[in-house]
Amino acid sequence: MDKKISELLNDQINKEFYSAYLYLDMANFYSTKGLDGFANWYENQAKEEQDHAILIYQYMHNNDEKVTLEAIEKPDKVYNTLMDPLTLSLEHEKYVTSLINTIYAAAQEVNDYRTAQFLDWFIQEQGEEEKNSLDLITKMELFGDDARSLYLLNNELKERKYSAPSLKL
Ligand code: FEO
Repeated sequence: MDKKISELLNDQINKEFYSAYLYLDMANFYSTKGLDGFANWYENQAKEEQDHAILIYQYMHNNDEKVTLEAIEKPDKVYNTLMDPLTLSLEHEKYVTSLINTIYAAAQEVNDYRTAQFLDWFIQEQGEEEKNSLDLITKMELFGDDARSLYLLNNELKERKYSAPSLKL
């Protein structure tokens, strides 16, 4: 594998674990607010991010690439409103999309079609993650100011279950 691609993928493992940590911190915030549905939604999101990290980790090992696990940054965001984690999530997912796009472009540049194909799943996944974040913001804008509606939205988010990634390596 090209050295640059290997470095970018190695970095992405760290970024995905950071995403997991960030989302667990959001779950932590909602738990302290008594919104167990929102907390559940973000706990599941954190698990998905760990899956993303492990998929890249496995892909690198499958290709005989060395993986170096680096320190994971502290999630130190401050949330002042119930909406804050939602808007930050969307911002964060857009950032992750830009990281995946960068690796994809770099892979194409060096004719690493295998990595480009591997990343296809992540590109689609990013589309879904951005949409999920946006949908949550829309629902919160519509229903967040009314206590009864917020209660129902919280119940809806309690239903989210963990689902393993559809990509198998
Ligand atoms: Fe692993 Fe939410 O992107």
